[in-house]
Amino acid sequence: MNYQIYTQRRRRLAEQMQAGVAVIPTAPERPRNRDSSYPYRFDSYFHYLTGFGEPEAVLVLVAGAAPKNILFCREKNAEREVWDGFRYGPEAASETFGFDEAHPIAMLDEMMTKLLADQPSLHFHRGADSAWDARAVGWLNAVRAEVRNGIAAPSAIRDVRVLLDEMRLIKSTEEIATMRRAAEISSAAHRRAMQQVRPGRHEYEIEAEILHEFRRHGAQAPAYSSIVAGGANACVLHYVDNSDGLRDGDLLLIDAGCELDGYAADITRTFPVNGRYSAAQKDVYEMVLAAQAAAIGAVKIGASWDDPHQAALKVLAQGMIDLGLCTGSVDGVLESGDYKRFYMHKTGHWLGMDVHDVGDYKKSGEWRKLEAGMVLTVEPGCYIRPGEGVPEHLWNIGIRIEDDVLVTALGCEVLTAAAPKTVAEIEATMGVA
Ligand code: GLY
Ligand code: MN
Ligand code: MN
Repeated sequence: MNYQIYTQRRRRLAEQMQAGVAVIPTAPERPRNRDSSYPYRFDSYFHYLTGFGEPEAVLVLVAGAAPKNILFCREKNAEREVWDGFRYGPEAASETFGFDEAHPIAMLDEMMTKLLADQPSLHFHRGADSAWDARAVGWLNAVRAEVRNGIAAPSAIRDVRVLLDEMRLIKSTEEIATMRRAAEISSAAHRRAMQQVRPGRHEYEIEAEILHEFRRHGAQAPAYSSIVAGGANACVLHYVDNSDGLRDGDLLLIDAGCELDGYAADITRTFPVNGRYSAAQKDVYEMVLAAQAAAIGAVKIGASWDDPHQAALKVLAQGMIDLGLCTGSVDGVLESGDYKRFYMHKTGHWLGMDVHDVGDYKKSGEWRKLEAGMVLTVEPGCYIRPGEGVPEHLWNIGIRIEDDVLVTALGCEVLTAAAPKTVAEIEATMGVA
């Protein structure tokens, strides 16, 4: 295992902390019912700094003049390993993942009292988990109890996520390579869905086709619950039932991306169940596609976070007027927010280890500027529910088109470009000449 990228990240974090002790636990296992647990997923911050995938593990990072990093993890356990599989144990974990020290997780509380003695600050994800908050207060009180022995307790608690979020926002070469692969696998899954869909099949069957493609390429899981929404279901933004039959003449909206080695892809495509867009469906589709092209065109170094959203909104507002969904001028529709009846979400979010990844969107009250190495989604849509004054031939058309975009020195790279997107590409992929 090449653990250099993780030791470098720990060093960078310690340098930015300057002093104090950071404590970063991984995620707990979550019971599903009785003896069954949900599939385990590590905490993203913890994994970003360690590469260590086992539950019941905590990273402690001491910054300052004598920096060191310590892993607390499960001990070897021959009997448990028969049931649950291999676990490293502190010694092998330390060697394999390049920690200065490693200890059994059972020693955490006792050792924290020593590690926090005479330290100025505790860097911690305060507020994320009340059990950990209580535990941290216990450590601080234990150190304070030593005051008459001349020991000082940390006087400040800092949120370690502030520094980590900024680090995670700019992706390294290794992270980009993994995200590119996650994007390729997810693009293949959307191609498969296009080829497998036909009237009479069910949303869950197509969900299974997508999962099949994720897993057969080694992706560990979907990065989020797949949305496979036929017909009017596409107008429910977080539809995840995926239980309905697919009807001739309807569209199918699929929002699905895999997680590969801790990194997410996030793709939406909307295509006709029978392989051919109707005239009305095509009109709305072309509008959303043009909005997406305008938004992607606005992704470049130095642009503001909000520029792609504004670019998409202009095209959508004009399109909604042309389609008879809104009336008046583009500026009027934008100012009144009338477009929100049909487009009620933003045009994207950061993407990385988490599908809605970490990182501030504003700095000192201003939308932040895009920088090379940032990855964001660009995902305009249009969702037309039946309603008074809404042209009836457009009812229940729900369309979103979503790609994952890396900011580069030259502008941007669409990581998910292998997922067919134009009407012609999609109809050709679906086998309709
Ligand atoms: N799939 C979640 C999103 O598009 O934000
Ligand atoms: Mn998204
Ligand atoms: Mn999505």
